[in-house]
Amino acid sequence: MKLSHLVFAVSALAAGATSYAQQAPKAEDQIRYRQSIMNVMGRQFGMLSAMAKGDAPYNKDAAVKAAALAETLSALPGPLFGPGLDKGAPTKAGTKIWSEPDKFKAALEKMQGEMKKLPAAAGDVATLKTAVGEIGKACKGCHDDYREKEFRN
Ligand code: HEC
Repeated sequence: MKLSHLVFAVSALAAGATSYAQQAPKAEDQIRYRQSIMNVMGRQFGMLSAMAKGDAPYNKDAAVKAAALAETLSALPGPLFGPGLDKGAPTKAGTKIWSEPDKFKAALEKMQGEMKKLPAAAGDVATLKTAVGEIGKACKGCHDDYREKEFRN
């Protein structure tokens, strides 16, 4: 399957998750789902970051694979920070997400925009470094503003 098809399929899944939430709003499941996505995306990005820093040997095939996965996953969390998903399970999500949703959305879109460049950049260690640097800033920017240090209920 081409990556564009995969992204489309995954976006369709995310849209499905939203309408499912409207039918059966179980905040706990949605919160755990968004945390799972963040964790898998974080693990893939962490491998790329290690390669970019020289902490792990650069491997083109592994890098391209991790980049595609990270980019695909980056498209998913938006609806999982929607109305009513501020509580229901232990979460590090800051309540500011729900008081300034437009700014949060902009921070998410910034990261998604940088992520789009990652799959092409991952094929070469120099371009990978640049892409990882820009994405890392976008992750950190949002975490600084919208992620708490400790879980809350
Ligand atoms: C638009 C905001 C935003 C962006 C951008 C963002 N995150 Fe997050 N991230 C969050 C929030 C909020 C949580 C907490 C979610 C929860 O606990 O419900 C989180 C949680 C996580 C976690 C789970 C670990 C933990 O216990 O906190 C990891 C790993 C993670 N993010 C990695 C990343 C990486 C890597 C990127 C960049 C590629 C990224 N995030 C970009 C907002 C963001």
